[in-house]
Amino acid sequence: MVSLGNLQPLSPQFYLLLRHGLFLVLFLHLPFLGLLIGGSAVSLLLNFLGKEKRDPSYLRFSQELMGTVLMSKSALFMFGLVPPLLVWFIYARVLFDASPLPWQFWVVILAVLLSGFALLSSYRSARGRALDLSPMSAATGAAGLLAVILAVFLFSAGYGILFNPGKLPLLQKQVRFFLSWHGVVKFLLFLAFFFGMTGGAILLLCGRPAEGDEGAEAAYRELVQRFGANLAILATLVLPVFLLLDLVTLPDIALSAEVFVSSAVVVLLSLAACLTLFLSDRKGEGGPGARVAFLFVLIFLVILLRDDAAVGNAYQDQIAFLHMQAPVAELVHADEKHREKPAAADRVAGDAGKVVFEKSCAGCHRFDIRVVGPPLNEVVPKYAGDAEKLKGFIRNPVKVNPDLPSMPRLGLPEEEIDAVARYLIEKAKAGGSP
Ligand code: HEC
Repeated sequence: MVSLGNLQPLSPQFYLLLRHGLFLVLFLHLPFLGLLIGGSAVSLLLNFLGKEKRDPSYLRFSQELMGTVLMSKSALFMFGLVPPLLVWFIYARVLFDASPLPWQFWVVILAVLLSGFALLSSYRSARGRALDLSPMSAATGAAGLLAVILAVFLFSAGYGILFNPGKLPLLQKQVRFFLSWHGVVKFLLFLAFFFGMTGGAILLLCGRPAEGDEGAEAAYRELVQRFGANLAILATLVLPVFLLLDLVTLPDIALSAEVFVSSAVVVLLSLAACLTLFLSDRKGEGGPGARVAFLFVLIFLVILLRDDAAVGNAYQDQIAFLHMQAPVAELVHADEKHREKPAAADRVAGDAGKVVFEKSCAGCHRFDIRVVGPPLNEVVPKYAGDAEKLKGFIRNPVKVNPDLPSMPRLGLPEEEIDAVARYLIEKAKAGGSP
């Protein structure tokens, strides 16, 4: 496993920034892939239907749809390939450097995406050239589609682990544990969203009239609108189901009122999209495309905000820990700056040492009584004047008293060991009184 170098501890603010950054990246990446997947899947389906029914309007629709999917090289690069790289980096930090996904995982995702894009591009240009598509070109399109779907599946599985910090230690042993029901449900939820959004895009962008027989043009437009509306309606019905499954498979620590409320908002928005489609269908007036597409974007936004809140809940312990670490880091830093002025240095070091003590030692030690470890007033004096020896013990505890259990190795950073050792010596000298 290759880590991303030796990373400094995060400040709580930077941590939040990264977490929100992650969701911003997803907000650009997934809808882009969604239109690519939805557009090419529907285009391939229409191609098949057109051949079965010998109906050229299906083939024309298939062609028009593929033409609207954004596939310029720069768009594929910006929205398709850069985001996974950013997510790779953010993951390593947001998971507290415990990112269990080896670099190979991300490289596979990128490679699969790249080949999917290449195959779909070739399908798209073949589709643009002629109404009649060779079976070879259709197969190329299908292979490209499957590749991009596979990439989204892997990505969703990796996304799923963000919500379950309890599983991280397991994952570090065996990468295959990255597959979870929650990841699978996320994948299905994304797919439902992709196809709903594609339905909205069809309503909004497809069915442009061409020169020719007016009656035939109206019939074509009717076919396109009906298809787009049905696809979007289906998605609005399926989405709430997957959302519910998502709630069920989220670990308890990730749940909160915020998560429930935003889930309810998503269900209401789906309902609104569904009603919009039904009502405008009956009145038969100007297309609902813009409104439906907008509602789907809103739905996705709320889903991501909800996930952001869930991740925040899941890591609240670690975030609290960061908040505790921040003052330690600041104090230790201030300590280094004040080294020249001994009086001030001792005071600041004392403060830093106290924070470290509360955080890492107080669970087992008091000064006056025995808890798990011995009372410090009894054991620290023997180190008086020899902070180095005390630091050596804290760094690497050895068995001392056969009547007590052994003290574990705490793995503290050197500055903290230094601060806490000085704090103990000072305090034991004063007899443990504050
Ligand atoms: C999980 C419980 C636990 C934690 C946390 C812990 N200790 Fe201990 N500590 C012990 C136990 C148990 C002993 C007795 C070990 C022995 O006698 O072999 C001990 C012994 C000691 C001693 C006496 C060593 C001696 O020479 O007799 C010192 C000093 C000490 N701990 C300092 C610390 C400091 C400083 C921290 C925090 C940075 C800390 N401990 C955190 C359990 C703990």
